Amino acid sequence: MSVKELDSSNQTRIFLEKTPLFANVPERALDIAQSVVQLRTYESGSIMFQEGDIGEALYIIKSGLIKLSKVDLGGYEKTLAILQAPEFFGEMALLGSELRSATAMTLSKVTAYLLFKDDFKKLIDSYASISLNLTTTLAKRLKGMDDEAQILSYKDAQGRVAFVLLRLFRSGVVNISEGGAALVKLTHQDIANLAGTSRETVTRALKVLEREAVISTRPKEIIIEDVQGLEEILHGIRT
Ligand code: CMP
Repeated sequence: MSVKELDSSNQTRIFLEKTPLFANVPERALDIAQSVVQLRTYESGSIMFQEGDIGEALYIIKSGLIKLSKVDLGGYEKTLAILQAPEFFGEMALLGSELRSATAMTLSKVTAYLLFKDDFKKLIDSYASISLNLTTTLAKRLKGMDDEAQILSYKDAQGRVAFVLLRLFRSGVVNISEGGAALVKLTHQDIANLAGTSRETVTRALKVLEREAVISTRPKEIIIEDVQGLEEILHGIRT
């Protein structure tokens, strides 16, 4: 192996051991993972796979943002999650159904490590700590979905939009401006797809949140001004 190859392989290992999937796993498991993953680059706006495709690999995000979405029974797009490094996705079709449960689209230029099905299965068969990491992530996702189901069924439009903005803020899917403000660079339609409502409803709700001075808006950009205020609106402490 050349010095350059050795360096990039070391970087892969250093990255992998910091990911939720490979945190605290034995050295031997990391050796194997490092030798089998393949790094790929995707331009912004690319479809990595579509709902219903056969799943061949799991993806570990190295850089960039991914949107996972599906079309609901009414024909509307519902965004399930926006993920970033070092999260992983695409494990479900490798474990059971074989078919992708959602579509993955890049929201920026993305680099990701691909771990192919047979290698993934061998790793989870051989190393209980990888299975445990996988289960921990799936449990967190389930908890997130339970919370979301509650909020989206019972809250008004402002509450739903506040929930979505807080979730983006907490998961780090925001840009921090030079002045330290948290910027959500999504359109009203993107927020609507996350909140399970219409674009018009989101636009109205954002105006209310802006009047409450918890956010301010610019074209394609929402600035979170007051996280505590958003929490109060979510929990109905203020309307
Ligand atoms: P898979 O079904 O292979 O392809 C789509 C992927 O989206 C799926 O695996 C999961 O990794 C991921 N996914 C599905 N639902 C959610 C969710 N609610 N939150 C985060 N990721 C999800």
